[in-house]
Amino acid sequence: MNVIDIKNFKKSFGKKEVHRNVSFSVQEGECVGLIGGSGAGKSVLLRSLIGLEKPDSGEVFVEGENVAPYTEDQLIEIRKKVAYVFQNGALFDSMTVYENLAYPLREHTQLREEQISKRIHDLLDEFGLTANDHVYPADLSGGMQKRVGLARSIIINPKVVLYDEPTAGLDPFNTVKIQEMILRLKRKGTTSILVTHDMPTAFAVCDRIYLLKNGMVGAEGTIHDLKKDPEGLLSQFISGQGV
Ligand SMILES: Nc1ncnc2c1ncn2[C@@H]1O[C@H](COP(=O)(O)OP(=O)(O)OP(=O)(O)O)[C@@H](O)[C@H]1O
Ligand SMILES: [Mg+2]
Repeated sequence: MNVIDIKNFKKSFGKKEVHRNVSFSVQEGECVGLIGGSGAGKSVLLRSLIGLEKPDSGEVFVEGENVAPYTEDQLIEIRKKVAYVFQNGALFDSMTVYENLAYPLREHTQLREEQISKRIHDLLDEFGLTANDHVYPADLSGGMQKRVGLARSIIINPKVVLYDEPTAGLDPFNTVKIQEMILRLKRKGTTSILVTHDMPTAFAVCDRIYLLKNGMVGAEGTIHDLKKDPEGLLSQFISGQGV
């Protein structure tokens, strides 16, 4: 079954037609890359999956339900299932790493404090952040903040994770750490969409890629298939030909 199905998505901002007609789907357990030039509409599509944007027309199915007409109350349930990893981590500055991670658990689960503590410490270990629980976000490096942001997004075991440029601005060490985290979640069966300009990361973690161009899907396929065609849009995009 497709966990995500976007059908005939159309969206304009003022006179600017960003999505002329976009359809794409993601199967259970797949990691799908969404690439395309700046302003192609990648983030808007991702945001529509949790109701932060509404299409002018078209459908946005999450596990078979069209969330496009959902009210804010209905969207709360969707946002428990579908985690959005914000580019800057979106951490609460006045809270420690521990408090940041505890927040969604206290908000959305019935776990007792000792269970919360265990979950947080397990996740910090898994993400290479051991012993950072009492640190404030401002005292962490940008790469570590991003890892904490990712940890917070996935701490309540979402079924789907949407990554919006998770490796932008990171050094190679932290980039590889993020790739490892995405792959680890994928091995656990998490379904994901990765919006990125970082092609090595897309190639390392994605099963399939969609390339947006002129408000439509310009190319779609497995990385292997798309790379095989040197004249294809993906090859042109990678080589900087501005598709
Ligand atoms: N709230 C908004 N109001 C007006 N225009 C918007 C709004 N949100 C997005 N846009 C426009 O829609 C287009 C697509 O934006 P989007 O953020 O999805 O691009 P993107 O593909 O994610 O680009 P980038 O790679 O630079 O992040 C852009 O031209 C942007 O200016
Ligand atoms: Mg974007």
